[in-house]
Amino acid sequence: MEKTKKLLVLTGGGDCPGLNAVIRGIAKRARKEKNWEVYGSIEAFNGVFSEPTELIKLTRSKTAGIHVRGGTILKTTNKGNPVHFPVTQPDGTVKFIDRSEELVKRIKELGFDAVINIGGDGSQKISQALYKRGLNIIGVPKTIDNDLSATDMTFGFQTAVQIATDSFDKLVTTAESHDRVMIMEVMGRDAGWIALHTAIAGGAEICLIPEIPYDIQKIVKKIQSRYINGQGFVNIVISEGAKAKDGTIVSSQGSKGSEHVRLGGVAYQLSKQLKDAGCEAEIRETVLGHVQRGGSPTAFDRVLATLFGVKAVELLLEGNFGRMVTLKNNAISSVTLEEATERYNFVEKDGYIVKAAKGLGISFGD
Ligand code: F6P
Repeated sequence: MEKTKKLLVLTGGGDCPGLNAVIRGIAKRARKEKNWEVYGSIEAFNGVFSEPTELIKLTRSKTAGIHVRGGTILKTTNKGNPVHFPVTQPDGTVKFIDRSEELVKRIKELGFDAVINIGGDGSQKISQALYKRGLNIIGVPKTIDNDLSATDMTFGFQTAVQIATDSFDKLVTTAESHDRVMIMEVMGRDAGWIALHTAIAGGAEICLIPEIPYDIQKIVKKIQSRYINGQGFVNIVISEGAKAKDGTIVSSQGSKGSEHVRLGGVAYQLSKQLKDAGCEAEIRETVLGHVQRGGSPTAFDRVLATLFGVKAVELLLEGNFGRMVTLKNNAISSVTLEEATERYNFVEKDGYIVKAAKGLGISFGD
């Protein structure tokens, strides 16, 4: 009889719709192989570090039907990077230490033969570091921001764009009734994909993204032209990471142990800049925030996430470790973890989508 092998699955970084669909895809495909058992680590790698460990066996009853649910049954964190692990000191400050070697040792001692790490850019950098330390690991990309260049799309992105577009549509009707300027802030830390797609899907007049710093005077002009020619109301989509040409991003301190500053509030900054620059129209701001990361994934995201899960198990069965699954040219494929993390997927300011949006009359304030 073949020896039973153990697979460990985890979700790391910010959550996004589709994580449960990947977990289910992995568990179903792996369970088909009679000699594989699948376990989940609770809250990224923290489940392995905890004493006692927090690991659950992903049996049929644990994963049945979860593909329609948002969030992750395994929970997640952005404070559990094993290479840069936050440790609170007696004086309350946080120091970061490298626990990657200890982690690899523990995973092996626990009898795991392979690991599938579902996460974004930061998580896949962790996968690469652990692979280099001798762990049999495979990455599955996720993020609503769609900012990984190795894959044409990440699951979660489409759902986020749908949520943002639904909200945008609602703001358009009230903007029209009151002849107001509506500013809707969406997520997108460094990449403006959600804003760009929402602007096209919703028919925005103005779209502001991190890749194209804006000139406030140009935006005021665009707004005024709408009022002068009798069209009136204006709908603006802005990424949380957008900034004026001579400005800075709007951030607050991240929570203790997190490596990121927290973004949010740029809609209010833009509103003030518009008023200061002489915009007379009434302005209202909406910050969508985490609703974009919640709820049930769209059918497209469920399919993509499920296919990613199945592909990750196939790579594992082939012994093809140190890779991340991708969607490239409409085919499910994979790249090395090194390739997966070497380039960020920015919106190209001279790329086709931006040009097409400009062709539709959408202003980027440049
Ligand atoms: O990386 C995805 C993302 O949604 C960013 O767009 C956003 O800045 C960040 O997560 C917020 O993360 P959290 O509030 O979970 O720290």
